[in-house]
Amino acid sequence: MEGSEVLRAEAERLRRDIERHNQLYYVKAKPELSDYDFDLLLERLVQLEREHPELLTPDSPTQRVGGTVTKEFPSVEHREPMLSLANTYSIGEVEEFVGRLNRLLEAEGAEGRDLVAELKFDGVAVSLLYRDGLLVRGATRGDGRRGDDITVNLKTVPSIPLRLWEFDGPFSAGEVCEVEVRGEVLMRKKDFEALNDTRPEEDRFANPRNATAGTLKLQDSAEVARRSLWFVAYNISGLHHEETSHGDRLKLLETAGFSTGGHYRLCHGVEDVEAFIQLWDEGRRELPYETDGVVVKLNDVRQWKLLGATSKSPRWAIAYKYPASRATTVLRDIVFQVGRLGTITPVAELEPVRIAGSTVSRSTLHNFDEMERLGVLPGDRVVIEKSGEVIPKVISVLLEERPPGLSAKELPSRCPECGTPLVQPEGEVSWYCPNEDGCQAQIRGRVLHFASRNAMDIENLGESLVEQLVAKGMVKDPGDLYFLGEEELTALERMGEKSARNLLQALLKSREQSFACLLFGLGIRHVGRATARELVKVCTSMEALQEATFEELSEVPDIGPVIARSIRDWFMKPSAPLLIEKLRRAGLPLVAEEPKPLVNTNFEGLTVVFTGGLLRHDRSSAGELVVARGGSIVSTVSKKTGMVVAGKEAGSKLEKAQKLGLRIITEEEFESLL
Ligand code: IVH
Repeated sequence: MEGSEVLRAEAERLRRDIERHNQLYYVKAKPELSDYDFDLLLERLVQLEREHPELLTPDSPTQRVGGTVTKEFPSVEHREPMLSLANTYSIGEVEEFVGRLNRLLEAEGAEGRDLVAELKFDGVAVSLLYRDGLLVRGATRGDGRRGDDITVNLKTVPSIPLRLWEFDGPFSAGEVCEVEVRGEVLMRKKDFEALNDTRPEEDRFANPRNATAGTLKLQDSAEVARRSLWFVAYNISGLHHEETSHGDRLKLLETAGFSTGGHYRLCHGVEDVEAFIQLWDEGRRELPYETDGVVVKLNDVRQWKLLGATSKSPRWAIAYKYPASRATTVLRDIVFQVGRLGTITPVAELEPVRIAGSTVSRSTLHNFDEMERLGVLPGDRVVIEKSGEVIPKVISVLLEERPPGLSAKELPSRCPECGTPLVQPEGEVSWYCPNEDGCQAQIRGRVLHFASRNAMDIENLGESLVEQLVAKGMVKDPGDLYFLGEEELTALERMGEKSARNLLQALLKSREQSFACLLFGLGIRHVGRATARELVKVCTSMEALQEATFEELSEVPDIGPVIARSIRDWFMKPSAPLLIEKLRRAGLPLVAEEPKPLVNTNFEGLTVVFTGGLLRHDRSSAGELVVARGGSIVSTVSKKTGMVVAGKEAGSKLEKAQKLGLRIITEEEFESLL
């Protein structure tokens, strides 16, 4: 074998190994390699592809990290419409459905009455197209006929195979083979919570489904990759010899490298279906992702065509939805909270009640409109609902149980904290306290946000301490934290010398946080952690950010006019320059550490080929030297090559470069150019 063939074979083997370990980890949850060893494999492949770009293939696992920025997703037509399912909350209707199926099949003289019961995943439906085994397109459901082509984003999902496994088996019987896999993209409950933790309060996702939908629409695929989405497959079509049962198709999906969730059951009659529904009513709470019901499908897929579909849903399937968990309790009082952005939120204080495995004693009523829509009075008995894992909601009042003599909670016209008259900006439902700089509740909220884990990560700065610091006027904005002295801290209640010193230590340590963390910590409306990260790539210092115009900001990926306006407004506030000055004097990072600035521009726009043996550099560090000076590295010589660095015993590449009349230099000349 020639040298290049050896490398090609190595790359091929690495790709296969990495994808297999990926699947063992993400789909089977049975990893065989440590993270460290896995990273070593991946690094080797990255290195091979960097040095030999011709070895890069579209199904390479190195492509999963994302990095492409898409302005708009093209609309594409589905091979077959993506229908939805007929829904029911009643077991009786599931029985009727099974009865109807049996009658229809009997009339057709068809055999095979078995059903498959599987979980109904609560995520976002997508379609994946594989041509000759290779993932070529991934699209959203859209209106059912046309959806958005979000291939770049879906490629980052580790449980979506980039190439079907065992492609040589059942998939490749014909010439061109186009297979379609449909399923649901999900966000696991714990990833959902971690994601929300990084977001500003006003931009939190209500549930994992919304978070998934929001993530799939992102223009920056690297951010999609970071959010670790999950895919479960529930159908495959386009096979040359179609499997005749749905159960077999699910098994085939598993052989092809997909996860089906693994929890489906062949049912011989409606009793089996009911047992499955009952089994998962409680069991689903233990699953890592959300499910909202059970889908019942006819097992014999040959009958699917026969039975057909209505305009919306197929006749061979039905979805049973679990009722959301509900409980009733007494609403003791309504209190009004002031958020760090001044938003007034009515909060229901409840008689503690157990619901779906946890005790609930508070629940947000969102805003005044919602409070009035519910018509709830302190003392009322109310219905609380918890759907999925989401924060419980008050959904209605039991009017027939209302005790006599209750009176309405008066809506505040002034801030409950500082007494300033509230305002309602045009077009918004919320009311605000406009006293940004004087309202202690807002200051407390801003300081706590600044100190939070994903921002400056200041340990030892809890709520009660912040309350004292703000109440005593020692802290008026987050910048003041850095000018607190040990003595004044020790004088505070419940504050010993040791805790004071710990806090000062934590403040010192927080100066190591990145500029992006600091920016997130400022609490600019709509600027979450991901947005902050995007921003600092373009505006690499506080000055640059201060000077960026609305238009420039709107150009940044994932930042639209609303966020751009919000950033501009923040910097226009009279208090902003003072805060920034304090942060500067405190020695905080007001510049981004990445991307690295160019050393010089000696290689700007030049593509460079290294050939032969270099004496003083290895290939990859020589490459980095070029990149740091504005150039780029390619591995093959062509007319477009700007320069060839020829080392010892350079061979065919040197010959070709000579033929093409390219600029050829020695290693010494290369060094002097640096
Ligand atoms: S089968 C013809 N199976 O529910 C529709 N769908 O309301 C074929 N869903 O859009 C879909 N889990 O997004 C099927 N095990 C499952 C499912 C499932 C969730 C979603 C899917 C679909 C919606 C239908």
